[in-house]
Order: sequence, then C-alpha cells, then structure tokens
Amino acid sequence: MLTVKAFQMDSFLPATYATDLLPQMEIAQGHLQNGTGAGNDFIGWVTLPQDYDKAEFARIQASAAKIRSDSKALVVIGIGGSYLGARGVIDFLCSPNYNLKKKDTPNIYYMGNGLDADAMEEVMELIGDDDFSINVISKSGTTTEPAVAFRFFRKMLQDKYGAEEAKGRIYATTDKARGALKSLADSQGWETFVVPDDVGGRYSVLTAVGLLPIAATGVNIEDLMAGAASMMETCKDGSLANPAWQYAALRFALYTAGKPIEVLGAYDPAFRFMTEWWKQLYGESEGKDGKGIFPASVEFTADLHSMGQYIQDGCRIMFETMVRMGASKAEKLVPLDEADGDGLNFLAGKSMDFIRDKAMEGTLLAHTTGKVPNIIVQMDGKTPYDLGQMIYFFEYACGISGYLLDVNPFDQPGVEAYKKNMFALLGKPGYEELRAELEAQL
Ligand code: PA5
Repeated sequence: MLTVKAFQMDSFLPATYATDLLPQMEIAQGHLQNGTGAGNDFIGWVTLPQDYDKAEFARIQASAAKIRSDSKALVVIGIGGSYLGARGVIDFLCSPNYNLKKKDTPNIYYMGNGLDADAMEEVMELIGDDDFSINVISKSGTTTEPAVAFRFFRKMLQDKYGAEEAKGRIYATTDKARGALKSLADSQGWETFVVPDDVGGRYSVLTAVGLLPIAATGVNIEDLMAGAASMMETCKDGSLANPAWQYAALRFALYTAGKPIEVLGAYDPAFRFMTEWWKQLYGESEGKDGKGIFPASVEFTADLHSMGQYIQDGCRIMFETMVRMGASKAEKLVPLDEADGDGLNFLAGKSMDFIRDKAMEGTLLAHTTGKVPNIIVQMDGKTPYDLGQMIYFFEYACGISGYLLDVNPFDQPGVEAYKKNMFALLGKPGYEELRAELEAQL
C-alpha cells in the first residue's frame, strides 16, 4: 500500500500541525464522501473505481483489441485533462521510448495538445503508409486545438481508406449528449465513449478518456482500476491514518507556514508525464481566488544539475514531494574495470538502484538542511495496480486540499478566459463584439 512520510518535519512545522487541522479535514472528507461541498456535481470520480460503467469498459477493451489488430499507429487527439493522464500512464508503464520499442501494439502519437504545424507534419510523416486509427477526446467537443488537429487527421484517414472504412477507425470520447463532436460522431456513426457529466477533465484518466489509449498499448486496465479501487476504500477512512489526509495536511500546513510552491519529482524519467498530469490536477484545482500552492516538477537526478542549485540555495519558498517506487525491473551492476582509469572501482558490483538510492538520501539530507521540507510518497512498485493506487491517492488528496483552501476544487474559470479571447480573435461567429474590443487593445 502506498504510504506518505514526512522527513524531519519537526524542523518546519509544529508537532500538532495535523491534529490542528482535524476539524477542517473532517469537513472536507464529508464534502467528498457525501457531496456537501462546492462543485459537488463534479465528484463522480470519488466512486468511479467501483461504480464505472462495466458495459462501456468491455467496449473499451474490445475497441483497444481492434486497434491493436488493425493499426500500427493510434493518433490520440486531446489537450489538458483529455490528454495528460493517458500520456502519463503510458510513459510510466510502457516507457517514454514506447514508440521506439519492438512490439505488436500500435505506436501512440499525441496530437491536438498544441498548435504547432511542424509537430503535426512530423507525426503525419512518421505514420507514413502505416495503418492507423484516431481516438479524438474532448469533453466539451469544442476545444480548438483538438478540433483543428482532428480535422487534419480525419482527412488523412479518409484520403487513405475512403469515407466508409475511415468510419471504423475513428473513436470519439466526449460528452454523452452535447457538443459538436458528439453530433458529428452520431451523424457519422463512429464508435463513441462517454466522459461522465460528473467527472471533470483533470479527474478523468480512469474513464474512457485515459482507458482507451492506455488499453491500446496492452496495459492491463483492470489492474489499474483495481489499484484505484483499493485506494478508494483506504480513503473512506476519515482519520489521519488515511494517506491522502496525511499528504493534504502536510502540504496545507507548509503552505500556511510560507511555502507556496510544491515541487513534485521522482528519480525515474518515465515519471515525467505523471508530474505533468499532477501539475494540472493541483494547479487547476487549487489556483483560484488569489490562493493555491504553485505546482512545479523536477526529474532527478537530471535536474539536480540544473534546478538543484535553486532548490538548495534560492528563495526559501518551496517544499518537495518525492515519489519513490522501489526496485527497478532491471538489475544493472557496475562492471569492474581492472585499469580503473575513471576511479569508479569503489562502485564495482554495486547496482544502479543502490547508487540511485544513495543519491536520493544525499539529496534528501542536503535539501532538508537547505530548509526545503520533504514529503515522501512511497509506492510498492511500478505495476498498473500501484499506479492506480497512486492516481486515486493524488486525486483524493487534491479534493481534500481544495476544501482546506476553501476553494471549489472542481471548476476552472481561469481556463475559459483564453479560450474566449482566442475564439474572438479567430473570428468565430458570435464573438464579434469581443473581437473588436480585443483588436483595439492589440
Ligand atoms: O481540466 C480541464 O477541464 C481542461 O484541462 C480540459 O480538459 C481541456 O481544456 C480540454 O477540454 P475538452 O476535453 O473539453 O476539450
């Protein structure tokens, strides 16, 4: 079971920091378990690992099997909450080098998460003559980046296979009834999957949003859900034995003690996109009403040679949360070199994990001495089950954290502002007045 450890926290927080927060934590717990808080129409994710739609889950498995059998590439089109979870899980469980590996599952290309023409052209070239399918994901069905990318890749698909065969290669994940994507999907007869009404984008990785692309890579999504379900049971505990309570209490106490930045990291490059997923989850959930911890991320040890300087010596405004995963799958022992020209024979026979763990311990001590408090999130391993646990743990702790801050953890009014401006500047019908105002400013 995932655990949370606070390292030498008595140097930074009073011994009573967690018990002092108990009354607020109990209220937050009630909001999540009973739906009594702000944004309570978006807490479907709380029970999702057990209550998910089993018939749709079977369709996801069937579509993933079809994609594996008829496609060498899957273009996953989505942005923000409709993108980061799938990428985080696939990179972590399959490798950031997944596309380069020899395998009998399709390459995954992520599109619609930006507006760069060269990136799009490159993916089109990489797909080349390969058989491919598209999974377009947009809850609203109107987000510009994925909608534009979808138009390009839909045309590519139709040009290659003809309109009829292309229909069987498009999978649309969207709202069950509303939005342009849903109407288009229904009119064209594409296979569709639902983003539940009561699950917001950043909490949607364990819905079809994440599950279809993840399953297409062959990852066992039943194990992923089972891990999340086990953490869901753990999080029902309304006490400080609950790891999500421990983490939420620590980060809230550190925030109020003058640490407004949290740096999440791991000693594993495969974790990088999980930190991107986490940044969206916490940044969008907490950053409002002039409040919120700023979520940042690092990849150690690489960033110890760059951001390590600031963390050790810069403004004392941050704390770190390090995710540890235990033993690597590969055991790599440092070879003996008789000549010892590099002076490394003191490490001969030692494993890479041993060297990593000493780097981790040395950094923990150095940063703590440098007045950067450290929280350790310890996972049992790197399986889909372990990751399912971790995903639910971070989601639940995020809900508790938002309520401790007294914000609505489930809305994102700030994300809408740029979308409206972009629609207006692009000349979308209905935005004429705003367009004139904005152009006058520019
Ligand atoms: O969390 C969110 O709501 C956002 O990041 C959205 O997921 C993102 O803007 C994409 O929206 P949509 O799925 O409607 O295209």
